[in-house]
Amino acid sequence: MKFNSIKFKVGNLFTIILGVILILYSVFLQISLSKYLVNDLDEELSGKVNELGNIISDELAASAGDDIYTVIQRIFSFQYPPKADIIAVKKKKTGGEPLSDEERWFVRFDRLDLSQDMVAFFESDGKLIYPSQNIAIDVLRKFTPDPNVSPQDDIFKNVTLDKKHFRQVQSVVSTPDGRQLIVLIAASEKPILDLLRHRQRTFTVSIPIILLLTAFLGRFLTERILRPVNSIVSTARQIGSRDLSMRIGQSNVDEEMKVLVESFNDMIARLENSFTHIEQFSSQVAHELKTPLAILRGETEVALRVDQGASDYKAVLKENMEEIEKIIKVVEDLLLLAKLDYRPKSLKFEKFDFNEFLNPIFEKTKLLAAKKNVEISCVFPKEDVLLEGDSLHLRRLFFNIIHNAVKFTPPGKKISLKAFTENSSLKVAITDEGPGIPAEYLPQLFTRFFQVPGRDEDPQKGSGLGLNIAQSVAKAHQGTIEVQSQLNKGSVFTVTLPLA
Ligand SMILES: Nc1ncnc2c1ncn2[C@@H]1O[C@H](COP(=O)(O)OP(=O)(O)O)[C@@H](O)[C@H]1O
Ligand SMILES: [Mg+2]
Repeated sequence: MKFNSIKFKVGNLFTIILGVILILYSVFLQISLSKYLVNDLDEELSGKVNELGNIISDELAASAGDDIYTVIQRIFSFQYPPKADIIAVKKKKTGGEPLSDEERWFVRFDRLDLSQDMVAFFESDGKLIYPSQNIAIDVLRKFTPDPNVSPQDDIFKNVTLDKKHFRQVQSVVSTPDGRQLIVLIAASEKPILDLLRHRQRTFTVSIPIILLLTAFLGRFLTERILRPVNSIVSTARQIGSRDLSMRIGQSNVDEEMKVLVESFNDMIARLENSFTHIEQFSSQVAHELKTPLAILRGETEVALRVDQGASDYKAVLKENMEEIEKIIKVVEDLLLLAKLDYRPKSLKFEKFDFNEFLNPIFEKTKLLAAKKNVEISCVFPKEDVLLEGDSLHLRRLFFNIIHNAVKFTPPGKKISLKAFTENSSLKVAITDEGPGIPAEYLPQLFTRFFQVPGRDEDPQKGSGLGLNIAQSVAKAHQGTIEVQSQLNKGSVFTVTLPLA
């Protein structure tokens, strides 16, 4: 697996990050829980020490004359009353009967609940007065007060006695006769540690499971999310070796991927379009050049077959020259078109006066039309019109359209040129009285090599590139060419160009 792949990032990196977060979080939970539980235990121990002090004071006051040791011992004897006594007290309590003094002590001590704790009393100089019976001898030696602390406060600390962990409070109990006793109570930390250990186990088991699930889900999700990408890749591969008609399926694709898939499909569509275009174009070019070349070959073959006089050869060469001229014209036109389509920046844009520009074109076509006995008229714009563009190419545009008009208009008919400005554009309408163009051919009129069928006999048969060039030039100048045509009446080509 690659380290910089999305699969790796989502599947593993994400899992690792989640793992670290989960571990830190569980450590935080453990620490805060243990703090909370120990605090709770401390509060409980504080309460017990207080209550123990109160009990001792009360008992001392009640039993005038008894020494402190006797009193403490008596108090602690309530800690372990015979079972029968406890049952009797409980019965009395639930029955609402009054309790004896002794029984009240049971209850008070029962509530204090020291049965699980180790309790020891010391003189203020550290001498042991009384240890509770649940303290083992070995432990008792280590269960001593800390002489170095201020006697007024409750001191809490963790102690390990006989390999067991305890929370210990050290406190001072003042007796009514002014004596100060040190009390130590140690409560086992086992319940806390058990709980923490249990949670620790839960975390150790659950975190790896969560991580495994996350990794698995992450992999599954990335696989799913990346499926369109794989499909794009495999389609792209197949396109190289097969054809451009393939598309990537868009069902079950996420919104973001849809954009990618759509753009990719669009791109293939555009490529397919261009390829079909190029294919058509090259076959058209080949076809277009084949006819004159075949004629050339035929004529040359015939001329070479038998020895002929110089004048006969000359005639053949002259005919060949015409065909060669035609081929050169097509090739030049194609080169021009390629330039217009793929290198529009090669045009030389300059500002020029349109009237000055149109006049020579009009004069030249007038001669052309006169040869064919076609009358041509021209209405120039009234004001000066400034255009910005490549005048050489624009001349080609107008010449192509006017030339068509002359070519297709029968002798005796008229052609009119009319130039005028409208909404910051220049419009030039070229109207002829030719055969017109059938409506069904109008949409293809400007495509390369297109010629209205059924006019094959035309002696001046062109190549069908003239209007395509005119349109490319117009486009390069942000202009348009529109056609209106009526069959057997004539056509109007209107060129629109933006003013400078
Ligand atoms: N003024 C017109 N009147 C009738 N048909 C026209 C006119 N101009 C163009 N056409 C039709 O459009 C075709 C394409 O014109 P063009 O691109 O100039 O090619 P070409 O002149 O070499 O045939 C022509 O062959 C002709 O059939
Ligand atoms: Mg033409």
